[in-house]
Amino acid sequence: MKLFLDSADAKEIREYADCGLVDGVTTNPSLAAKTGRDYVELLEEIAGFLPAGSVSAEVLATDFDGMMTQGRRFGKIGKNIAVKVPLTMDGLKACRKLRDEGLDVNVTLCFSAVQAMMAAKAGATFISPFIGRVDDIGEDGMGLVRDIRAIYDNYGFTTQILAASIRSVSHVRESALAGADVATLPVSIFKSLLNHPLTDKGLAAFLADAKKAGVEIRGT
Ligand code: G3P
Repeated sequence: MKLFLDSADAKEIREYADCGLVDGVTTNPSLAAKTGRDYVELLEEIAGFLPAGSVSAEVLATDFDGMMTQGRRFGKIGKNIAVKVPLTMDGLKACRKLRDEGLDVNVTLCFSAVQAMMAAKAGATFISPFIGRVDDIGEDGMGLVRDIRAIYDNYGFTTQILAASIRSVSHVRESALAGADVATLPVSIFKSLLNHPLTDKGLAAFLADAKKAGVEIRGT
């Protein structure tokens, strides 16, 4: 499963970009607004950290022509950019056209399995179901991922399921079990994936035993 960081904070992304576990980054206008920085400059910096990864850059336009202009602008940043468009008719038209022009596209704000089917028909590279926000309205976010997986497998759609709006480590585990191709995580959750009290306890015991017995590792 690929793991993306859901962040527009260049400092925190740089900190994790070279650990070999980050496959990409997703940004959105709300995350970018928090930085107070120029969005294109910010994306150029982030895309530079992960030349072999995928960096999602979300359009602000809601009409086809505007999305095309902004998507093409983002595309000039680098081959690792995925243009993020909303799941609307204009968004899916732009998705098809941008894909025809060779750009990756992430269709965002997906809340139903049929929306995901339509995005796949438009040739989306990624579909982003918002797990946490589906849970927020009392529906089953993970059930949505399972439904999309089944539909995509039924018809051989190659669009990658990118589980977004992830709020917990359990969401990551369940997304992986449900067959999501990617999960995009806030850095706080990314770090928590490694945590287990028995790992800390076991490591402390190994080191204490070695120290007590005077075990050393010689040579280079
Ligand atoms: O990737 C989408 C994400 O940024 C939205 O998360 O927690 O605001 O629903 P959230």
